[in-house]
Amino acid sequence: MTNPPTVLNLSGVSVRRGRKMLLDDVSFQVREDERWVILGPNGAGKTTLLQIAAARLFPTVGSAEVLDETLGRVDVFELRPRIGLCSNAVANTMPAHETALNVVVTAAYGVSGRWREEYERLDERRAFDLLNAWGVGTVFDRPFATLSEGERKRVQIARSLMTDPELLLLDEPGAGLDLAGRESLVSSISELAEWEGAPATVLVTHHLEEIPPGFTHVLLLRDGKVVEAGPIEQTLTSENLSTTFDMPLELTERSGRYSAFMKQS
Ligand SMILES: Nc1ncnc2c1ncn2[C@@H]1O[C@H](COP(=O)(O)OP(=O)(O)O)[C@@H](O)[C@H]1O
Ligand SMILES: [Mg+2]
Repeated sequence: MTNPPTVLNLSGVSVRRGRKMLLDDVSFQVREDERWVILGPNGAGKTTLLQIAAARLFPTVGSAEVLDETLGRVDVFELRPRIGLCSNAVANTMPAHETALNVVVTAAYGVSGRWREEYERLDERRAFDLLNAWGVGTVFDRPFATLSEGERKRVQIARSLMTDPELLLLDEPGAGLDLAGRESLVSSISELAEWEGAPATVLVTHHLEEIPPGFTHVLLLRDGKVVEAGPIEQTLTSENLSTTFDMPLELTERSGRYSAFMKQS
């Protein structure tokens, strides 16, 4: 049996800003059928790594292949619609008065191009279906800025799926949610992860509670460097977590959910 195709291939990637290495010699491969979590403390370089995967940022050193295209040798405006990106940086560019439906629909702009009017109806239909699928169909006509944090996250995920991407990137989708909001979002993302038609997915977080069941691999990042990367059962250990967060931590796992606490001596 042949392996599923590689959708992301970073090789020796470094990103330097001034004297600081945001990423330092990172190699990272994601295959089509994999669901990755990138875990690491604040400032580890998680968002920087995701920006490269999203073709929003180029490495200073090293090579980045995204969906078989090499960054620097491809028109990123053709590549980006094939990648779904859900992040606060994207959400912050949304005009406050834009409706939830428009936030989702506009992800398709610049993709269809010709036959605009006919596509507009189809695009709206798809956007509405996505809002419904993510449980926020009823707020379709509300201004984005008036939505609750939980609703906003769901609208953002719907937006990142609008172009039917081959690679889905979620940067801290659970940030700012209350307990019930987080649990319900984790469960929705887990459902997506377990659907075989879902795109390859990379989710960034620094909270173990936000790892959705069904995610298969983890990359541990610290100070721009990879601590460890591989299948979640072997790689997510108390020892590796302690190294990543520079603190003695005890990992617990129950029914595919994770948490960690400082080791009591
Ligand atoms: N343009 C920049 N110039 C200098 N430092 C930066 C720049 N952008 C980000 N950083 C720093 O790089 C580090 C990694 O950032 P980031 O990728 O956002 O980390 P994470 O998402 O893991 O919290 C942080 O310490 C951040 O302050
Ligand atoms: Mg970040």
